[in-house]
Amino acid sequence: MNSIKWTGESRYRVQSDLLPIGHEGIRAQQNPNAFQMFDKFFQENEFDFVIEIGTSFGGFALYLYEQSLQHDFNFITYDYSKFKGGIWNDRRKDLKDLWDGELKYDFRDKDVFLDDTIKEISTILQNNKCLLLCDGGDKPREIQIYSEYLQSGSYIMGHDYSPSEEYFYQHHQKQVWNWLELMDSDVEKTMEQNGLTKSSEYYQGFCDVVWLCLIKE
Ligand SMILES: C[S@@+](CC[C@H](N)C(=O)[O-])C[C@H]1O[C@@H](n2cnc3c(N)ncnc32)[C@H](O)[C@@H]1O
Repeated sequence: MNSIKWTGESRYRVQSDLLPIGHEGIRAQQNPNAFQMFDKFFQENEFDFVIEIGTSFGGFALYLYEQSLQHDFNFITYDYSKFKGGIWNDRRKDLKDLWDGELKYDFRDKDVFLDDTIKEISTILQNNKCLLLCDGGDKPREIQIYSEYLQSGSYIMGHDYSPSEEYFYQHHQKQVWNWLELMDSDVEKTMEQNGLTKSSEYYQGFCDVVWLCLIKE
């Protein structure tokens, strides 16, 4: 499936009909081939809610928002403006300016490790079929905290994933993605405790674009 050559960059510009004609696109921190894999996944699966942890520049959120309009699910994206003392707080400025000062999608400025936020997200997870995308500051911890609340049949995914360091050096680094923040050993215990398994249908396809795809049994 991988067809777009990766240039080694951590940013890929997402194009959209929701941007002015001719705009260069909004940055997403994804391998360009991740989008085709998510296209297929959203064509084959229905959700009530898709939640992204870690909005950053907002390009991946822009893609997910468009998917939400096409496939009729609710979409929420979280980022925490005070992360690292606020140095990345202006990352969504480009997109906001293009949209007259307001993000069109449901962006929530909250720390996903605070009790109130955990309560907010876990209530949604308990009552709906969800996909939770863990792409914030600590992927293993996000998966550990939130997977407990998933309904059976819901999915949780984590980014910057390789099964192991060996796999990363052999298959991902310098070929697909240069950042490793999540490995099997980080979530083995969580998977057992919270009844998660690697998706038989989608695990390998997502692994090829450095996402770990888990389903709640
Ligand atoms: C790797 S970036 C997300 C990339 C984005 N998902 C994309 O595909 O373009 C990680 C983001 O997580 C955010 N973040 C870190 N810790 C967080 C926390 N505790 N709560 C919410 N967001 C957090 C950071 O501010 C940063 O923007």
